[in-house]
Amino acid sequence: MSDLSLGGEPPAVADDGVWLACVECGATVAPFDDVVYRCPDCDGLLEARYADYPTFDDFDGSGVWRYAAALPFDEGVSIREGDTPLYEVPDVAAAADVADVRVKHEGANPTGSFKDRGMTVGVKVADRLGVDRLACASTGNTSAALAAYGARADTPVLVLLPAGKVAAGKVAQAALHGARICEVDGNFDDCLDVVAELADRGEAYLLNSLNPFRLEGQKTIGLEVLEQSLAATGEWPDRVVLPVGNAGNTAALYKCFRELVAAGAMDETEVPKLTGVQAAGAAPLVEAVEAGRDHVERWDDVETKATAIRIGNPVNAPKALPGIYETGGTAVAVSDDQITAAQRTLAEDGVGVEPASAASVAGLLELRERGAVGADERVVCLTTGHLLKDPDAAADAGGEPTPVPADADGVLDAL
Ligand code: F0G
Repeated sequence: MSDLSLGGEPPAVADDGVWLACVECGATVAPFDDVVYRCPDCDGLLEARYADYPTFDDFDGSGVWRYAAALPFDEGVSIREGDTPLYEVPDVAAAADVADVRVKHEGANPTGSFKDRGMTVGVKVADRLGVDRLACASTGNTSAALAAYGARADTPVLVLLPAGKVAAGKVAQAALHGARICEVDGNFDDCLDVVAELADRGEAYLLNSLNPFRLEGQKTIGLEVLEQSLAATGEWPDRVVLPVGNAGNTAALYKCFRELVAAGAMDETEVPKLTGVQAAGAAPLVEAVEAGRDHVERWDDVETKATAIRIGNPVNAPKALPGIYETGGTAVAVSDDQITAAQRTLAEDGVGVEPASAASVAGLLELRERGAVGADERVVCLTTGHLLKDPDAAADAGGEPTPVPADADGVLDAL
């Protein structure tokens, strides 16, 4: 891997040993004096930096806050997020035919997706900054998580959703947790443009993954994957395969690994290969990786049944592309049919996921088919959201109910 650019002396702006650094120009910013999302000098993405990086001995307790030594605070606005299972999946393993494959099921978080890990940190930052409204654009899961964590913190939440393109379970969550829901006549990328402008005008605190503190919480996925893999198999995985939308998790996992290397807890040669999967109808990052580019070109028209990753402008690409390149990973696009097939295979292992989540397994199978993933590899696939997030997709992928009369013989006849 290249220069990790972590650690060193805290600059004058450091606050409690935490500061923000621009990934483009290296400028540093105080994190908690004013609200800041992007570099004031060059508009680049910001990343949290610390005076010290912990090793595995510094972690204690369970869930996201087990990893407090790697986070900006000792505790957050918590609904007991994290500590999700790493499953053995025999049916997926048979299809993938690799040395070891496990599924890290982030659908087991309190609101049913990995977003909770980011929100427990991000909403705490909002609390410290004293903001009076939280906001996000969302393909659904971010809005569900922000609604729940905002409710927990007693702070009003505004969510902008692409009209008609968000799965039913997610809208229901945002509604019940009391968020103000605005349906935008446009896609997710349009929603993010609008909410970013509202945030710039000071109308709300932005909690999309553009917010560097969201990714601090999501970094704990990587720490759990490493600890759980070691406990289960005695080894760390060679590769982590994950669905990509805004590329926040890809960026967060790369940061997790760089920090472990900086702390001396992991050797550069041990860093798992980050492997991103997009739906073929929304694959600007895959396009960039296939062309070897260091930036993505926005897709204005995107379509896939995996609505969670129906995104044409992955805002975290400047952080995520180096993660893919420097770890020796890759990116691959899969069709909606491949996603549905993978969703069914996971279901046969008892793991219920929404379509976007199944993209990781579909991507692994595609890469095996192409010979790009070796039979000797130990792989972890991330499944990012619960089956019930998108009940319509689950019903479509599953079997049809049979109408029967209300008597036992009638049921047996139908069987
Ligand atoms: N999987 C699920 C289930 C998601 O909800 C998302 C993103 C992703 C994968 C992609 O993750 O952005 O870190 O690459 N959902 C966002 C939302 C965009 O609004 O809920 P990423």
